Amino acid sequence: MRIFVTGTAGFIGFHLARLLLAEGHQVAGFDGMTDYYDVRLKERRHAMLRENSAFSATLAMLEDDAALSSAVAGFAPDVIVHLAAQAGVRYSLENPRAYIDANVVGTFNVMEAARVAQVRHLLMASTSSVYGANEVMPFSERHKADTPLTIYAATKKANEAMGHAWAHIAPNASTPATSSTACPISARSHPGPPPRWPKRSTGFMPASSPQAPTRPRASALPKPPR
Ligand SMILES: NC(=O)c1ccc[n+]([C@@H]2O[C@H](COP(=O)([O-])OP(=O)(O)OC[C@H]3O[C@@H](n4cnc5c(N)ncnc54)[C@H](O)[C@@H]3O)[C@@H](O)[C@H]2O)c1
Repeated sequence: MRIFVTGTAGFIGFHLARLLLAEGHQVAGFDGMTDYYDVRLKERRHAMLRENSAFSATLAMLEDDAALSSAVAGFAPDVIVHLAAQAGVRYSLENPRAYIDANVVGTFNVMEAARVAQVRHLLMASTSSVYGANEVMPFSERHKADTPLTIYAATKKANEAMGHAWAHIAPNASTPATSSTACPISARSHPGPPPRWPKRSTGFMPASSPQAPTRPRASALPKPPR
């Protein structure tokens, strides 16, 4: 399959791209190499991916609609996995505008590029931060996510709502996937279990939907090298 992955220089995107390449897929990466954390680490990740000739990359920002749509149209992907985002809870208190630009405007651009290119599926990363002020623990995909407490969470929740609307107007489907705090690998250390992705999806399902898909156990995912 031809899979377009945004955020391939990032923590999850890099590991996903490696897995997809190892499975024999063609992968086009897209990343703006933002300086939210060490750019040299991101460059090293892309250099590792480039060792596989099935990988190509565009270095540009999601907000650059012309660059994004041209990269998508040129690659003609079957599937887009949208992981690039301004992530992080604390930084959203310092620089909230970065979240609006990358996550709201940028994600809209991804959806439009996917619609025009008529991709078969668009999978987008959400976050457990969307559960915000929910009091029932542990959080579950079955819970509502109407009370985000940070701009980061609010933009991700907005993405889920945009995805719902987009799935009704576009001929293809989208699935926001919720990732809880990710696995303790790579140079960035995250406590907690590995991210979980839907095994397959058949249409739009908000991360907080009662019909959210059953996800593979984290232990079923291949273990990346430390
Ligand atoms: N890692 C986690 O614990 C976690 C938890 C919940 C949700 N998520 C979500 O998963 C996704 C991936 O997270 P991650 O940990 O790999 O993040 P990351 O910060 O390591 O990677 C994000 C990548 O996106 C790129 N990027 C950021 N803004 C961009 C823009 N405007 N245009 C182009 N590229 C841009 C960055 O350069 C970076 O390489 C994000 O959507 C995040 O919100 C992650």
